[in-house]
Amino acid sequence: MRVFVTGATGFIGSAVVRELIEAGHEVTGLVRSAEGATKLEAAGAKAQRGAIEDLESLTRGASAADGVIHTAFFHAFSQASLATRLRVMFGGSPTNIVKRFMTAAVETDISDPNAVGGLRARSEEAALALPARGVKAMIVRLPPSVHDQTKQGLITQLTAIARKKQVSAYVGDGTNNWAAVHRLDAAHLFRLALEDGEAGGRYHAVAEGGIPFRDIAEAIGRQLIVPVRGISVEDASKHFGWVAPFVATDNPVSSEATQERLRWQPTHPPLMVDLGAMLRSADARASLRRPDAKPATPKPFCMARVADIPRA
Ligand SMILES: NC(=O)c1ccc[n+]([C@@H]2O[C@H](COP(=O)([O-])OP(=O)(O)OC[C@H]3O[C@@H](n4cnc5c(N)ncnc54)[C@H](OP(=O)(O)O)[C@@H]3O)[C@@H](O)[C@H]2O)c1
Repeated sequence: MRVFVTGATGFIGSAVVRELIEAGHEVTGLVRSAEGATKLEAAGAKAQRGAIEDLESLTRGASAADGVIHTAFFHAFSQASLATRLRVMFGGSPTNIVKRFMTAAVETDISDPNAVGGLRARSEEAALALPARGVKAMIVRLPPSVHDQTKQGLITQLTAIARKKQVSAYVGDGTNNWAAVHRLDAAHLFRLALEDGEAGGRYHAVAEGGIPFRDIAEAIGRQLIVPVRGISVEDASKHFGWVAPFVATDNPVSSEATQERLRWQPTHPPLMVDLGAMLRSADARASLRRPDAKPATPKPFCMARVADIPRA
């Protein structure tokens, strides 16, 4: 199949490109720079210059393909609702924490636009309107930690905060659940969805659906050799800044239906193995944020989605 991939140079998109090429697909990736094009071509794909703000480049890529996988990450803070922007600017509202990340525990759940990761709900809604127009579009839902030994999604940010504050914290008793998937398992699922998914399908790229947040905080604390401490909901914003609403989400997730429907079986290491390996690595330690550095710019979330384009 000829597949057009956005975000092809990204953490997840580059794994998707590799997965597709290894399975014999012909891949064209959207790139914004010459460096991106070189990287993509070295991986065996074609590069198409463009951007997701540039409709012409998207149309060109999609119309020359049999399928599209969209993983580009649009960091447009202005796209978020006023409430979300205020919450992010003021470090998260305590009244908004201890909620679900997406309010989607099983595949049939509809995402809640008011959830902490609610911007994804709008992307899902847009993608799932496409089957009515003859496009075989489907959703792959990603958990807050898509990981390998170099990065672990929001946990990379939490590690930097723990290092800066010299304490690894959790909120309340830390029994709230997080979900995770290895990026190669996620990439495999994107391919299976493309090849065998159904129009309007919602798939969960979740290998571990219920990791108590306290376990994550303890792993970070052990490796950084900093104390591990529970903090109150009221103190969460001060400690975690914009990540606070995410930290306290309790979102146990199942991927049972996805595994059954697409015969997807996660096989790569679990989060704790990758997190431990990264924190033990001298290079990674050196690359962690220095204690005096400022936190990274907040990133609103958008949904990664996959859509089949019917052949002309
Ligand atoms: N990583 C995680 O743990 C995680 C967890 C949950 C959900 N997700 C979601 O998964 C998706 C991909 O995440 P990621 O971690 O792979 O992100 P990433 O490593 O930051 O990659 C982002 C990709 O999007 C491209 N991009 C950014 N802005 C663009 C634009 N305006 N036009 C065209 N391309 C653009 C980047 O291209 P350049 O190389 O040119 O910058 C890059 O290829 C995102 O939607 C994210 O919300 C990720």
